Amino acid sequence: MTAEIDNNTTQRDKYVAGIMGTKNDSWVIMDSSVTHYDASFRSVLKGETITSLARRRYKELGRPLYAIDFLATPAAIRSLAVAPGIELQGLSVSLSEQRRQRTQQNDSKRGIRHVVADLGRPGTYHTLLRELGDNKADIILQRGWGGLNLLPKDASYYEVAFNAMLTMMNEGAILLTQLPGLLEGADLVSPDLCVAALVDQGVDAYLGDNPTSIRKVMRVEKTHDTPKRIRLPLT
Ligand SMILES: C[S@@+](CC[C@H](N)C(=O)[O-])C[C@H]1O[C@@H](n2cnc3c(N)ncnc32)[C@H](O)[C@@H]1O
Repeated sequence: MTAEIDNNTTQRDKYVAGIMGTKNDSWVIMDSSVTHYDASFRSVLKGETITSLARRRYKELGRPLYAIDFLATPAAIRSLAVAPGIELQGLSVSLSEQRRQRTQQNDSKRGIRHVVADLGRPGTYHTLLRELGDNKADIILQRGWGGLNLLPKDASYYEVAFNAMLTMMNEGAILLTQLPGLLEGADLVSPDLCVAALVDQGVDAYLGDNPTSIRKVMRVEKTHDTPKRIRLPLT
């Protein structure tokens, strides 16, 4: 999958296209294992770690889990896949391929894929949905930190992204995501209003603080009653 620059190219698109597939894709926080994610999501982990949550789900389901990590290299997914008592495959998405060839080969033997794509383009979510087909996720992670700044701060973008993520989730699946500050769409939407809108529409969502950042975090659990589509913001 590659970014296509069309006639509606914006400054963001140009900036992102300049990073895609290059060595410029370097960040202060990068390639983190899932134990580093625990610190960001502690307020919504209900006393578990992401590893213990995955181990519990693996025992409950009795089949290999599938995890997706947005705005990340495969490092966190790999650390889950090699943890004792868990069988897990997965997919990560970021702007570049940072792995040595040997690591790529080992990952693919474990069923771990990395996709280079621009998540700021709503079409990327549709492409991923098509590629995943019936493979749904049990765990979705998104701890993009500064990567969130390269996504549109727009409620309609988040509506597309969130609906795609919901479709990608199995019943019982858990989404752990950082949220940006204010989203500017037809209305200004804060993380608090955004989560309130989800809850109003029957989504099992709640917000937590991230002790090491001003960014909020959200946990969503997909249940039998989760609607197929949500609106953001509520109109
Ligand atoms: C700060 S790093 C975070 C990496 C990882 N989640 C972690 O916690 O170690 C930000 C990541 O976001 C990715 N990223 C930034 N903008 C993106 C975009 N528009 N589409 C896809 N990935 C993007 C970068 O490629 C980078 O891997």
